[in-house]
Formats: sequence, C-alpha cells, structure tokens
Amino acid sequence: MDTIKEVKKQEDYIEKVKKINQGKTLQYHILTMGCQLNENDSEKLCGMLEKMGYVRTDNFQNADLNLFNTCCVRENAEDKLFGKLGELKRIKEEKGTIIAIGGCMMQEKHITDKIKESYPFVDILFGTHTLYRFPEDLYKALIEKKKQEDIIDIDGEIYEGLPIKRESNIKASVTIMNGCNNFCTYCIVPYVRGRERSREPKEIIKEVETLAKQGYKEITLLGQNVNSYLRVEKEKGKPFEEYEGVHSFATLLKAINKIDGIERIRFVSPHPKDFTDDVIEAISHCDKVCKLIHLPLQSGNTNVLKAMNRKYTKEQYLNLVEKMKAKIPNLTLSTDIIVGFPGETEEEFEDTLDVVRKVKFEQVYMFIYSRRVGTPGDKMENQIPEEIKHKHFDRLKALVESQIEENNQKYVGTVQKVLVEGTSKNNEHMLTGRTDSNKVVIFEGKKEWIGEIIDLNMISEHMWYLKGNIIEE
Ligand code: SAH
Ligand code: SF4
Ligand code: F3S
Repeated sequence: MDTIKEVKKQEDYIEKVKKINQGKTLQYHILTMGCQLNENDSEKLCGMLEKMGYVRTDNFQNADLNLFNTCCVRENAEDKLFGKLGELKRIKEEKGTIIAIGGCMMQEKHITDKIKESYPFVDILFGTHTLYRFPEDLYKALIEKKKQEDIIDIDGEIYEGLPIKRESNIKASVTIMNGCNNFCTYCIVPYVRGRERSREPKEIIKEVETLAKQGYKEITLLGQNVNSYLRVEKEKGKPFEEYEGVHSFATLLKAINKIDGIERIRFVSPHPKDFTDDVIEAISHCDKVCKLIHLPLQSGNTNVLKAMNRKYTKEQYLNLVEKMKAKIPNLTLSTDIIVGFPGETEEEFEDTLDVVRKVKFEQVYMFIYSRRVGTPGDKMENQIPEEIKHKHFDRLKALVESQIEENNQKYVGTVQKVLVEGTSKNNEHMLTGRTDSNKVVIFEGKKEWIGEIIDLNMISEHMWYLKGNIIEE
C-alpha cells in the first residue's frame, strides 16, 4: 500500500480511538529504553497518543496505558523490561491498564516468545517496522479486547507526516535514515532495524524548516550510519529526488546550515570508514555544525577491529583523527568503546588505551561486551570471562576520567558560547546549557535567556559539568 494512504488510514484510527476515549481523562506512561533513534520514535508514539486523547503521566501505577519502547543492544535492557512487567502484573489485575510493548526487542523472536509465555497479560506487541500502525493496533485491542501482535520481518517503508510530540522546544532530533548495513559482529541493530534506507532530502529539509519556524535552535540528525546517507539508494539505483542540492550527507549538512533560525547542527553516528573528505570539508565550512564529532572507535586494536567487522585499522582511525584535526579548527571528539569482545587479549586491550591516550576524547561512552543472540560475536568460542571484562572496563574508566578532568581544566578561564536549555534539575535558581562541545554548563541567569546562545566565562570545573558566569559589560 502506498505510504501516504497508509498514514491517512492511521489518522482515521486516531480519530476512532479519540471517539472511544471521549469524555474520559485517560493517562499514558511511556518508558523509552534505547538510543536517540528510539527516543525519536517515542516522540512519534507520544504524538499519536496525545492526538487520541491520552495525557502523559510520570507515574506508571496510575496510567491507563503503559507503553514500553524497548532496546536490545545490550542485555541490561532485557532485565529492566522483565522487571517492570513483573511489577505491572498486579496493576493490570487491579486496574486493567493496557500494556503495549514496541521497539527493537520486539524484533527478537526469543523475547516475544518469552513475553507470550510468561507475561500473557500484555495487550499489544509491535515491532520497529510497524510503529506507524500503533493507532490501528490500539483500536483493535480496545474494540476486540484481544491481544494484538503486529511484528513483521521485512524492511519497513518510511512513513512521513506522523504526529510528533517533542520532548524539548529548543533542541530537536530528525531521523534521516533507518536501518544499518554494516553488520558489526557484536551488534544486533541490523537484525532488528533492517537494511539502510534514507529519507527523501525534501522531507528532511521541510521538517527542519518547520522546526526553525517553531523556534527550535538545535537539530540533531540521526541514523545508525549517517555519513552513508543516500549511499544505498545511489548504489542500487533506487530513485530519490535531489532537493536544495542535497544528494549526500555532506550536501545535506550544507543545506541545513542555510536554514535561518537553526543555530546548531549535530549528528550521530557517523562511521569512521565512511568519513569522506567532502564530509570533513562540509563540517569545517558550515558555521552551525558543532565541532564536537562523535567518532565511534569500538576498539583500538586492528585484530579486534577486524573480528568486529569495523573495516578500519588502528592506524586508519588515528590518521582520520589527524586529518580532521588539521582541517576542522576547534575540533573535539567523543567516542564509543566496547571492552571484552571475544578473544580480546591484554595487549589488544592496551591498544584501546593507547588510542584513548593519543586522541584525548572529550567524552567516551564505554560498554562491556554483551552477547546478543543471532550475532556472529555470540557464536565465537573465545568469550572473555566477566571478571576480566570488568577489570578492563575499570582501567579504561579510570583513564577516561583522568583525561576528562585534565581536559575540563582547560575550559576554566575561557569564554564559551552556551545554548541555554532551561533551569537546572538540581537547583531551580540556576540555569543549564551546553557548549558547542556538548559540555553541560550551570550558571546564574534570567529565565528569558532560555533558548538563546550566550557568551559565558567558565569559572570552575566539576567532573560532569562546568560552572559559568555571565560576562559583565
Ligand atoms: N550505529 C552506531 C551505534 C550503535 S549502538 C555506531 O555504529 O556507532 C551504540 C553503541 O553500543 C555502539 O557504538 C557500541 O559501542 C555499543 N554496542 C553495540 N552492541 C554492543 C554489544 N553487543 N555489547 C556492548 N556494546 C555494544
Ligand atoms: Fe551496529 Fe555497527 Fe550498524 Fe552501528 S554500524 S548499528 S555498531 S552494526
Ligand atoms: Fe537499542 Fe534499537 Fe537503538 S537496539 S540502541 S534502540 S536502534
């Protein structure tokens, strides 16, 4: 079915559910468990639910509808979901709350089998390719009063124009592509999100223009491998329409850089193997593109990288960093690292520490390797004992924290441009914002500044934030 008709059909279901709910004040609770793409999907689910008459609550015990948007990239997410479902059993019996579970974990058969067997009270299961059909699934669950399972294993189409309720009115995420073709051997994402497919340039540009008109200042472009935007379409001869000169990731950055009102552009995640010169050139020439680049390393050792199917060596990664540093003034870098991949030896792990020492990342997201059913990594025989994984993790963490402390000190005494995001969570008399390099800054100021980029003196550093002061005239 064509996607426009399908979205129209879902709008009709939204109206139908709204009618059923008329006159009632119904509340929903959503738990978002995954990455920024998963969060962006949750914003779409919230958009649909609010159009259907549900009001959001932070208290899951009072909710008439409990929604889980799951992640399965590491094991701990599973424990969390099953723990919550256990708690909900009693609430379901007492209050009859509707329970719906969507997201990446629902694309794993062993998980949905377990839910059906051990948690039969769950009302709706839906996958990553059928998120747009949530209004229809909910309508059927309400009317037919029977379980709905709406999961398909083919790559979903891209559905434009779904309702959306965004978390912030200053910063917004824009998904530019779905899926992943890289099949890193540790990673479940390609199996649960399907193959890479990019949104039409026109749809992305229109979405960002609308956000700019609504007053948004910062845009984060999302995808599992953003710097291969439109690559598959070109390779496979799939038609797409060039719009505002956009035919690649570099040209997309340039086009968004021209949109009035948008002041900052970020993107996650690029893949080092696809970091072509045109992307480096676009970053250095686009004044709005933040100079903090997230460049996932995963491991600093060439053998491990090969086993991970990352398609670059230690030297290639370091050379890329050097090239970027030379061409992009004020460049800062963040990264993702996995410790304890099957077969990783002491010496190989030392290479990761070596790269961390050399690059001096602004931020490092560290993960302990987690076996994922169905990935090649899970079948490898040389799994690392938990104890060693944890020892390595602690060593990496100690190094990263000492580097962050050292790096933070460099900020003290400098002036930084800070996008003011709101009042601080821990102290309502203080404001919070972020630098270009995504460092949190806490400072005293006026609420009218929220949404503005202001110059601040950095007066002191703390592990996870900096303290700022307004510059006296
Ligand atoms: N597409 C992005 C991010 C994907 S998931 C990228 O390629 O960078 C986010 C991070 O989770 C990954 O970068 C990786 O560091 C981590 N990760 C993925 N699978 C994992 C696993 N099985 N165990 C531990 N960490 C994992
Ligand atoms: Fe996973 Fe690799 Fe794809 Fe990232 S690029 S989503 S780590 S397979
Ligand atoms: Fe998790 Fe799916 Fe994102 S597995 S990391 S929510 S793409």
